[in-house]
Amino acid sequence: MPLAPGGEGLLGHNAAFRKNRMRMMRLLARQEHPILRLDIPFPGVHAAMALDPDIVQEVLVEKNRSFVKSDMLRFGLYELGGEGLFTSNGDLWKRQRRTMAPLFTPRALEAYAEDMVACAERTVAGWRDGGSLSLSHETTRLTMGVAGKTLFDADTFSEADEIGEALTVALEWTGWIIGRPLAVGHIAARRAAESLARRTTGRLHDAAVRAERRLTGPLFLPGKRGRGLREAIRFLDDHVQKMIDQRRGSAAPHPDLLTRLLEAKDEDGAKMSDRQVRDEVLTLFIAGHETTATGLAWTLYHAGRDPELYRAMEREADLVGERPGVEDLPRLGLCLRAFKEALRVAPPVYVFGRDSIEPVTIGGYDLPWRTNIMLAPWALHHQARLWPEPDRFDPARFLPEHEAGRHRYAYLPFGAGPRICLGNHFAYMEAQLTLAVLLKRFRFEILGADEPDPGATLRPKHGIRVRVHRREPARVAVAATTPA
Ligand code: HEM
Repeated sequence: MPLAPGGEGLLGHNAAFRKNRMRMMRLLARQEHPILRLDIPFPGVHAAMALDPDIVQEVLVEKNRSFVKSDMLRFGLYELGGEGLFTSNGDLWKRQRRTMAPLFTPRALEAYAEDMVACAERTVAGWRDGGSLSLSHETTRLTMGVAGKTLFDADTFSEADEIGEALTVALEWTGWIIGRPLAVGHIAARRAAESLARRTTGRLHDAAVRAERRLTGPLFLPGKRGRGLREAIRFLDDHVQKMIDQRRGSAAPHPDLLTRLLEAKDEDGAKMSDRQVRDEVLTLFIAGHETTATGLAWTLYHAGRDPELYRAMEREADLVGERPGVEDLPRLGLCLRAFKEALRVAPPVYVFGRDSIEPVTIGGYDLPWRTNIMLAPWALHHQARLWPEPDRFDPARFLPEHEAGRHRYAYLPFGAGPRICLGNHFAYMEAQLTLAVLLKRFRFEILGADEPDPGATLRPKHGIRVRVHRREPARVAVAATTPA
């Protein structure tokens, strides 16, 4: 398999990804070969980068049984998400997904519309006409409020700053540790233990299995960053535990995810441990707000820099009632397309990975056991052969006639296959409804250029500074020819 360009010095692509992830992404987006080998010079570590929709389809869909979530991702998220739905594998993942999926069907999602709109209204209620704000801070508060209320019936909106701070510390740690030599070394050690377990029996086998498990997450958290992470996790753990305790002590019915988790039983009739509930709650809370907040902020940023598009979105928002609902979703098509385009240009999950659990052939190449295949939505979304003028923000790419001619796996913001994002429809609906409220109530003036900052997700580096101008309350619904 050809080697990807951009490796640096003794640490190869490991160094390149650490030092300048965006540069590496741009370089990869320009490559023509569908899959490239990465130079990660640690014993037992094989890695490749998938750069073609056919390869994506092979890895995530057709041969998904030959892969599990990557050790690197699990390592980086373990303190936060533990064995939650995002990071777990095998039977545990299957059972948990089955438990949660019913709350994310299109029908079940309808119940969340009112809370989504209410959180958008609470967000704008705190804004002053002419005030300047960080858009990503505001969209984070909004989506955090939505995730807390809809999934756990908790008022996370009022506590958004405290929780947000702890989560930012934890996610910054994740963004920092992924790909560091410390993490790669850790994974190489885990692989060695796993390989020993496969080749041995008896006591040696048992010891190797124990070592492998122990090495799933970090053994220790060094330095100031480690201390910060420990404190943040303690704060979040206490918070979640309080929520669980309150719910157990409450007689009132709550038909939400938390109740479902607390009441779920496995085949043997056993309930989930508090630790597992904690892992699921934190996973869903983080997965359910961080990415959508980033996507919303980028949507308004790009729309705000294109007056014609902005006015068309505003007109669309004005055409729905003061409090938009599920029935308005078909009329908010441009808002949806703009959000989809923002997830293309700046996919919040810009890279993720899988590890093979057996020898497997991908793209015609035979890959050994435990090859790490990286999938990079950012690089895929910026390939000129898949997306002409890839840097141009153009929601029309998502009109049905344009979508029809495109490879299904050229667009990967939510992943694909059995492990596709559980909340993709939730995110789309939340984006449409909250964009409608924000655009109706305020006009956004973008105060400066921003750029993606690739950490755990693709947040904007400067938070997107905007000035907000209150709009007249009684706007006439102007029949507009909504452009693409
Ligand atoms: C724009 C918003 C979102 C983006 C870009 C996004 C992206 C993703 C991606 C790429 C994955 C798959 C990762 C992989 O295959 O390794 C994923 C998984 C997941 N997402 Fe999302 N997500 C978003 C919103 C949400 C929301 C709103 C929720 C919940 C309310 C959610 C819950 C989850 C869960 C639970 C998983 C793990 C699913 C599994 O492995 O079975 N996400 N997301």
